Amino acid sequence: MNIVKDALNREIERRRTFAIISHPDAGKTTLTEKLLLYGGAIHMAGSVKARKASHHAVSDWMEIEKQRGISVTSSVMQFNYNNYCINILDTPGHQDFSEDTYRTLVAADSAVMLIDGAKGVENQTIKLFQVCKMRGLPIFTFINKMDRASKDTFSLMQELEDVLGIRSYPMNWPIGTDGDFKGVYNRMLRQIVLFTNDKAHGQAIINSTKGSVDDPIFKDLLGEPYYSKLVEDIELLDVAGDSFNLKKILKGELTPIFFGSAMTNFGVELFLEEFLNMSPHPREQLFGDKIIEPLSNDFSGFIFKIQANMNPNHRDRLAFMRICSGVFERGMQVFHSKTGKPIRLAQPQQFMAQEREIVDLAYPGDIVGLFDPGIFSIGDALSTNGNLIFTGIPSFPAEHFARVAAKDTMKRKQFLKGITQLAEEGAIQVYKQPDIGIEEFIIGAVGVLQFEVLEYRLRNEYGVDLKLTNLNHRHARWITDISGNPDELNITSTTLIVKDTRDNFVLLFENEWSIQWALDRNKGLSLRNIL
Ligand code: G4P
Repeated sequence: MNIVKDALNREIERRRTFAIISHPDAGKTTLTEKLLLYGGAIHMAGSVKARKASHHAVSDWMEIEKQRGISVTSSVMQFNYNNYCINILDTPGHQDFSEDTYRTLVAADSAVMLIDGAKGVENQTIKLFQVCKMRGLPIFTFINKMDRASKDTFSLMQELEDVLGIRSYPMNWPIGTDGDFKGVYNRMLRQIVLFTNDKAHGQAIINSTKGSVDDPIFKDLLGEPYYSKLVEDIELLDVAGDSFNLKKILKGELTPIFFGSAMTNFGVELFLEEFLNMSPHPREQLFGDKIIEPLSNDFSGFIFKIQANMNPNHRDRLAFMRICSGVFERGMQVFHSKTGKPIRLAQPQQFMAQEREIVDLAYPGDIVGLFDPGIFSIGDALSTNGNLIFTGIPSFPAEHFARVAAKDTMKRKQFLKGITQLAEEGAIQVYKQPDIGIEEFIIGAVGVLQFEVLEYRLRNEYGVDLKLTNLNHRHARWITDISGNPDELNITSTTLIVKDTRDNFVLLFENEWSIQWALDRNKGLSLRNIL
């Protein structure tokens, strides 16, 4: 390997690009903040949290965000820990849950699944998990809030298997899950780590007391009942549980579980170290039928997110590109897959913890923000060697639908332009109902907030007031196989047949029952919720 390749290889091997998937309130903001704290990117915990509350640091540009105090689009944070370079992709939750949340997972090499120990596997986690599974992402589980009473540990493992269909391997084992948390037993090191609560929401890094499980002092420290239960639990786990298997973990077939408390910092460092050890560095990516290795001499990347309106006066947008191979250099010239034309990547930005900076060099796994004068779409590929096409970003199932038209029919042209633009950015999905002209569309979104964003942006950027009628439909299913004509399908009266922008037939259903109805009555009909 020559010196340049060697250097690139080192950069690739030390990179970890991951997303945290969780249900709102499980503690994602808190955990992210603690990871930054341990990475030395912030010095006192509380800053990310403050950002969540006031929301003016990274993305205070969109009026809706300011009014609601929430983040409409996700961001990326980069920091170093030991010799690792870590990119955390933020996946928005709450009302700002959107297709962006799913798409972010396409840019990740692994996922951290954060679960509230008292609540177990919740709805939003299930949805995000399914996307990770489809992508074959390795999943690392952190069971949080162990400082409070939590569900029984064996039943949590059973829940992961029953609800998500994934087997697990506890890396550590909690002691005192009834609200009297004592600490964890580290199975690899056969060590007990005692829980210390600094009662200050873990603002600073903590040092834990550790020692061998065989040390009699722990029997005293934990008390006989807890100590005996631990010994029993571990025996059972060793005999009846899965064995540690890194290959399975990397294939996403087995998830290592860590127990801790993000708020008090307990278990965060242990998790971070083991996670960095086990999780994969940037892997190869599929561009059409070409496999692109990160270590390739040629640069390649794809756009997975577009954030609009960075500055309302300039109408500029920021396209987020995940680098897949080669070295990214500021000002470099690349081919743009959509137009087939060369473009120069000037003024790229990177996201260091909480600030943006202009980036000169970046490597596979990194996320770079490119100023976009309106040329990029979701899924566009950028590459130095010919024109690569990236096919890895699917459409995810919308859950909210509305009929939209311009209030003023004279503004049809701007309406069309705005809708097309927003669909290209991936903010909404657009469907056409056969027989209806271009003056009306059905739009779909993963989160209901997207409708507000759509109305706001069409008014402010295109001068169009929308006539928006919410529909009762909740499920979109792409028709992947059919024996006859879609018009002749036997479906319930409320089910709509529409076409997406790629001319695929889609059925919009009001409920699960009507999906089953259609499947039961139409032989050969095959439906998919992600395409
Ligand atoms: P999210 O981003 O996933 O929505 O969750 P976030 O971190 O905002 O945490 C949600 C709530 O859970 C917060 O409480 C937070 O302090 C709490 N929390 C996070 N980790 C732990 C933990 O390990 N143990 C316990 N007991 N609580 C935890 P809050 O009341 O909404 O805010 P705050 O007043 O505590 O800041």
